[in-house]
Amino acid sequence: MSKKNILITGGAGFIGSHVVRLFVEKYPDYKIVNLDALTYAGNLENLADIEDKPNYFFEKVNILDADKLKEVFEKHEITDIVHLAAESHVDRSIVSPLDFVYTNVIGTVNLLNTAREQWKGEYDQHLFYHVSTDEVYGALGDTGLFTEETPYHPNSPYSASKASSDHFVRAYAETYHLRTVISNCSNNYGPYHFPEKLIPLFINNIINKKPLPVYGDGLYTRDWLYVKDHAIAIDLIFHKGRKDETYNIGGFNEWRNIDLVKLLCKIMDEKLGNISGTSEQLITYVKDRPGHDRRYAIDATKINKELGWKPTVTFEEGLAETVDWYLTNTRWLDHVTSGAYQSYYESMYSAR
Ligand code: NAD
Ligand code: TYD
Repeated sequence: MSKKNILITGGAGFIGSHVVRLFVEKYPDYKIVNLDALTYAGNLENLADIEDKPNYFFEKVNILDADKLKEVFEKHEITDIVHLAAESHVDRSIVSPLDFVYTNVIGTVNLLNTAREQWKGEYDQHLFYHVSTDEVYGALGDTGLFTEETPYHPNSPYSASKASSDHFVRAYAETYHLRTVISNCSNNYGPYHFPEKLIPLFINNIINKKPLPVYGDGLYTRDWLYVKDHAIAIDLIFHKGRKDETYNIGGFNEWRNIDLVKLLCKIMDEKLGNISGTSEQLITYVKDRPGHDRRYAIDATKINKELGWKPTVTFEEGLAETVDWYLTNTRWLDHVTSGAYQSYYESMYSAR
């Protein structure tokens, strides 16, 4: 295996930290450079267990800063990129769409430009891997699955910004022959997930006996994948994926929100030694999210057939492991839910 110096952007976030950990541990001969601006969602505590490894480096840089990107590229002689840095929360995108345009669209184009300049004349030897979401495809009805051929139909400012970044990556492959690959994944869950997304928010609220705010009728459907299985898929695509292709990644695991919340309540009651039904009493139906996509579900046949990938963890196992992690890592949870988190929570949920 040839020596690589891989820039992983957004490595201090939820999925990025799992990707960084996997690459640092699995490939001691690679240099892994985690580039992250450390926004509210970025937390170096997510990587405390590997920060002393000799092949791990951290650079606090915003992807909007083209000069700094160039410096990092030259300093570490970057050979490949796995790009995860993004604003990632749909509800925040409804409040502040421009933040999503800056980071997700302009930041991605900055990174593409840097790669283009730095790798000029030798594009075949380098890879720009863009990590994206199934939300770019829009919403499904009661049946059907998203395939790699499904037309883009983004409905939220978040998914519109990710769709735009996907299009730029494609355009740079066509126009400049940059070697690229894109993956579009379904909803992830697992350790280190910031407690503004459904599963970690509800775990935290159950611990603190706070209401569980279910949007609308609760019948929205998501396809859930354990984050470590996403990281395994990214590793496979990075090393074995075909040039300029797109791969859909999903959990083959659809859940209506309300059913998932009830399952989570049951697991939490068992773990906390509560009388059965205690946590379910916290469920509160609240005002719906505007433009709320009804259903997402991925057809992951292509990655399964071409690269042999499939999820290794069942939902029951993954959810139980996740709950255990949050109950054990109370210090992490206390740190991320202090300060700014409180005012975010107030402004997001007091009006619902
Ligand atoms: P996250 O919000 O937990 O982490 C994002 C990271 O990017 C943070 O560490 C943050 O500090 C960093 N970042 C944000 N803006 C930056 C900037 N301007 N410059 C440098 N760093 C910046 O997100 P996540 O859930 O880990 O998602 C990672 C990627 O995977 C995103 O591109 C997202 O669109 C995609 N994705 C997420 C999911 C999911 O379920 N969470 C599913 C499919 C795809
Ligand atoms: P989320 O975790 O924000 O992921 P996404 O919107 O990217 O799929 O939300 C998952 C589902 O849970 C989605 O249908 C919205 C719903 N939801 C709630 O009902 N209440 C909440 O407080 C949150 C954050 C989400």
